[in-house]
Amino acid sequence: MSRILTGIQSSGKPHLGNILGAILPALDLARHSENDCFYFIADLHSLTTVKDAALLKENTRAVAAAWLACGLDTSRHTFYRQSDLPQVAEFTWYLSCFTPYPMLANAHSFKDKSDRLKDVNAGLFVYPVLMAADILMYDAQFVPVGKDQKQHLEITRDIANAVNKYHTSELLVVPEASIREDVMTVIGTDGQKMSKSYGNIIDVFATEKTLKKQIGTIITDSIPLEEPKEPESCNVFNLYKLLASPEAVEEMANLYRRGGYGYGHAKSALLGVILDRFAEERKRYEFFMQNPEVLEERLKEGAEKAAETANVVLSRLRSALGYS
Ligand code: AMP
Ligand code: TRP
Repeated sequence: MSRILTGIQSSGKPHLGNILGAILPALDLARHSENDCFYFIADLHSLTTVKDAALLKENTRAVAAAWLACGLDTSRHTFYRQSDLPQVAEFTWYLSCFTPYPMLANAHSFKDKSDRLKDVNAGLFVYPVLMAADILMYDAQFVPVGKDQKQHLEITRDIANAVNKYHTSELLVVPEASIREDVMTVIGTDGQKMSKSYGNIIDVFATEKTLKKQIGTIITDSIPLEEPKEPESCNVFNLYKLLASPEAVEEMANLYRRGGYGYGHAKSALLGVILDRFAEERKRYEFFMQNPEVLEERLKEGAEKAAETANVVLSRLRSALGYS
């Protein structure tokens, strides 16, 4: 059995980029019978940027509903909300005492956020240590993440090695990053990487009306309807390509090249393919959002399961450090 662990922050609503880039690849790993997966919503990390309690709660539920709607099997795997296991805060403290200050000060993600954000809080600085605790407290062996998280995984390994050096090499499992090199970067409505912080998302679970509006804002050039167009340079086509069948993609490419096919037509086709591809997921998502008690029950069960491992590893660390 391999222990696979990954988390997604709940600092915004889950979007098409999160689904294609993180949730679906993680669910593929969960289908292999030899994998024991721990998937969670990193809602404590979200507090670095989201201070509105109601919004944080709503986003956390939306991210949880998205995982469940996309088909995570919680009878086989462990699915939980990070904040339901406050043991992680204690674990973070222990690890922070083994983390060299310059390692955090030089982290790209911290430097980037401290240049970009107004609220440069200490939570942003300690973020990688909390992430290391998320991983090390569950003896994770493999951590599937996007390229942007590579350095955070290196920091996690360095911290684990630093603790083990003082104690025993068996104290903490040193995890490996599984970087999803082959996963595309999903573009947003403006052609940049889709991201909640750029305001360019496509929310697969939104109402049809909102979804249509979001798709309507996809930036295109101003070549008139009658003229032939180059499919590959069009944001609408590039999004369609990620979701439609190869035949449908080929057909749309031919329509672009032939002329007489406008961006409005392509946007309608994109809306159609999203509604079709995610029809079941949208229904399940709606169910969980309308029945928060069911969602909460699933998260509670997940937290109980996660605690079984967390408590064992935390005790192991406590006693090695002289706190029993
Ligand atoms: P974030 O929303 O930035 O917290 O990202 C959560 C997860 O979704 C990470 O594993 C990212 O790598 C992935 N992700 C976010 N945006 C995209 C995107 N535009 N394309 C592909 N993957 C993405
Ligand atoms: N920092 C990750 C991101 O923004 C989210 C995360 C928090 C995470 N803890 C984790 C990912 C532990 C993997 C493992 O994408």
